[in-house]
Amino acid sequence: MSATSIARVHGRRVFDSRGRPTVEAQIELQNGAIGRAIAPSGASRGSQEAVDLRDGGVRFGGHDVTRAIGSVNGPIAALLRGSDALDQKGIDQQMIDGDATPAKSRFGGNAIVAVSLAVAHAAAAAQNMPLWRYVAGDQAVALPLPEIQIFGGGAHAGRRIDIQDLMVMPIGAETLGAALAMVADIYRAAGTLMQEAGKLTGVADEGGYWPVFESNEDALTMLVRAIEHAGLRPGVDAALSLDIAATEFSSNGRYRLALDGRDLDRDGMAELVLHWIERFPIASIEDPFAEDDVTGWRRFTAAAGSRVQIVGDDLLTTNAARVAEAATGQLCNAVLIKPNQAGTLTEAHAALEAAQRASLSAIVSARSGESEDVSIAHLAVGWNAGQIKVGSFARSERMAKWNELLRIEEALGNDARYAGGGALRVR
Ligand code: PGA
Ligand code: ZN
Repeated sequence: MSATSIARVHGRRVFDSRGRPTVEAQIELQNGAIGRAIAPSGASRGSQEAVDLRDGGVRFGGHDVTRAIGSVNGPIAALLRGSDALDQKGIDQQMIDGDATPAKSRFGGNAIVAVSLAVAHAAAAAQNMPLWRYVAGDQAVALPLPEIQIFGGGAHAGRRIDIQDLMVMPIGAETLGAALAMVADIYRAAGTLMQEAGKLTGVADEGGYWPVFESNEDALTMLVRAIEHAGLRPGVDAALSLDIAATEFSSNGRYRLALDGRDLDRDGMAELVLHWIERFPIASIEDPFAEDDVTGWRRFTAAAGSRVQIVGDDLLTTNAARVAEAATGQLCNAVLIKPNQAGTLTEAHAALEAAQRASLSAIVSARSGESEDVSIAHLAVGWNAGQIKVGSFARSERMAKWNELLRIEEALGNDARYAGGGALRVR
């Protein structure tokens, strides 16, 4: 037993930003240090993600997590008691081996990721360090370029519009604080414009305005107008970023854009997205093709990969082997890193390292179901990822992350460096 040995592992049910149950893990060390973390949850999930274990049945619409909490309090606690919290790799491996399924379906990826993050928090607390500094080790860090949602869509907005996230990236700002101030102006401008157009009807799951538009392209036009209305230059101060989440509206190699009344094959889809890139100041596109449409990805990256960041999310599900394969096959040039897709901190970090080794850009990302947990803000800085995505500029489960980044920027003082537009390798 050392001071940083795990003395107690506790799981409890809390509720997320959609009002659904989720897992919170609490780790207590011999020396009294405590770490806590809450599992997030996606709505538009890749098929290869770690399993988000739900009870099913009728309670909370089938979303209850008593089985996942039982994993934390039962087998995971039994495995980890006495282990050294400073050995994150060893602890994550114990959970991977104990679960012994390919997608963490026995313990539940939600149980495992909450414990994995809570262990890191406890270890950082034991060393009197913020999490970002603990995970950074000796590595120099930069504050990440944020991509921030202005309009929600897809599975996060009742499929009112096909594109899932319509975001801005404050590429022209000098500091993270200035970047977030720009986005605050753009978000407010978008609200004003929506109100003037009689289209202000609330917000979607991640806090972006509800997408009352006649077509997908109308939403892009409105996004550019919002940047201009905020007194900023589209493509110079702030660029556009889209998460198309195409797996959600694809089947058998076809893409059905319901709002536009179009049913496209992969070439048609590529043509449409290329047309958007020509017409709008788009710097980044996530999941433009379905996760199983490898040909679509490869051709699109060959056509547009030198001009725009092309991000694999559902395609890669934060898996190091898939990231390496995608790099070799030139399927994309950037990777979304969602710790709960992988299930452990160690595996998520390995996916990030695989991306960095292959010179792919990386974006640490939250999920559409979130909480007050700010771990990912720390990971984006500490891992020096370069970019971060946590939804919109409203609702406290989103603002908690942006505000934490402001605190980290302040703590860095003279050492604070904002990755800014430089984080986009292709521009
Ligand atoms: P999700 O959406 O959390 O619902 O999967 C986020 C994303 O697709 O990036
Ligand atoms: Zn996505």
